[in-house]
Amino acid sequence: MKKLFRKKTPHATSSAPTHLKACLSKWDLTFLGVGAIIGTGIFVLTGIAAATQSGPAVILSFILAGLACAFAALSYAELASAVGGCGSAYGYSYAAFGELIAWIIGWDLLLEYAISVAAVANGWAGYFNNALGALGIGLPDALTKAPKLGGMVNLPASIIILLLMGLLIAGVKHSAKINNIMVAIKLATIAVFIALATAHVNPENWQPFMPFGWFQTLPDGKTVGVFAGASIVFFAYVGFDAVSTAVEEAANPQRDVPFGIVVSLVFCTVIYIIVSALLTGVVHYDALNVASPVAHALNLLGFHWASALVATGVIAGLTTVMLVLYYGLTRIIFAMARDGLLPSFFNNLHEKTQTPIRVILICGVVMAIIAGFIPLGDLAELVNIGTLAAFVLVCGGVIVLRITQPNLKRPFRAPFNPLFPALGMLSCSALMAFLPAQTWWRFLIWLGMGLVFYFLYAKRHSKLA
Ligand code: ALA
Repeated sequence: MKKLFRKKTPHATSSAPTHLKACLSKWDLTFLGVGAIIGTGIFVLTGIAAATQSGPAVILSFILAGLACAFAALSYAELASAVGGCGSAYGYSYAAFGELIAWIIGWDLLLEYAISVAAVANGWAGYFNNALGALGIGLPDALTKAPKLGGMVNLPASIIILLLMGLLIAGVKHSAKINNIMVAIKLATIAVFIALATAHVNPENWQPFMPFGWFQTLPDGKTVGVFAGASIVFFAYVGFDAVSTAVEEAANPQRDVPFGIVVSLVFCTVIYIIVSALLTGVVHYDALNVASPVAHALNLLGFHWASALVATGVIAGLTTVMLVLYYGLTRIIFAMARDGLLPSFFNNLHEKTQTPIRVILICGVVMAIIAGFIPLGDLAELVNIGTLAAFVLVCGGVIVLRITQPNLKRPFRAPFNPLFPALGMLSCSALMAFLPAQTWWRFLIWLGMGLVFYFLYAKRHSKLA
């Protein structure tokens, strides 16, 4: 039986540590997932998608996107348990398709994770500055907006990334503890919203339920409808895959990583359906096109104290999203460098903390600059297309490996193979198809750059070939 599971790598040559410290429990992993998943998507995009794309049927958009993610999550869980390695989809694509596809997907994941962190940092900065404003100490535009938006730099966005950088350098167990606390705060604020909103639902707000239909293209080229809404609110699910980047740090990865992936996704999907139903039930959908729809809805209901509380929870919530995605990014780079596809400079763990400090530092500085100087609103779609492409390959990987490695030990098996993985490929491809042409072009340009780097550097230095 061929053994593919890569908790440990064969490339260790020096006495310096090359393995990450295995210390995360299954609940740490689940909280890691919830930390990455619940964020901008539910707190910001729900309102925007309801107002401009789906109407109250944003609930259906969430269900559709969640279904696509569920198929992908089962495939992730199988490959995480059978293949392992901290490189997530990158590692699985290597096992299933070989180096070139693995490289493409790894390169794609770098974009997804880095842009996600910088984008969420921008959202965080908005909430943070609103909170400062409420206290009468709001920062001037020059320090909270990128040059393109009339400011100089988005300082809070840069600073939060640099703070998280320090946290990750200190070591993962500490980060996981702080993550768990933040996730608890985030869930408590959602509970407050659910408790208050449930008593104030007005079913008339759900009419018309589907004002934009399933899918249509408007004269200005904008796409609307439940499907277009699904391809946007998909962002709310981005992050469950980050659990799979923690395989090397999980105490019992073959059992606990599938648990963390599946449980965190199911839990978040239920929360999303409840919150989106309540949000569109307490306020008419056309009043939700604001930066903080959940807090806004509570304000409209007259619960100003709860609105402030929820805004505070959102600040904590977005922090955990950034933390986990940042963590995932550094682990993917670490894995790619260890395999020789990126320069070995990045394949280095600090003796004491056993964390890849160089990767953490460089990513932190680069993302802090991006977050500070570039307004990233329109790049959420870029994150989605990159993530969906990775999901398609992961689902494909399950089908291919079942054929090429039938005897591989699979502690977790995706059910109904090849039906479920095939449905995952189909639904994720469909969501990609509903994204605008411009997003496709940006995505293809990034992949083109990756191919150039692959043939000039990675292919020659690979230790895997
Ligand atoms: N799913 C994450 C969010 O919604 C990326 O912020």
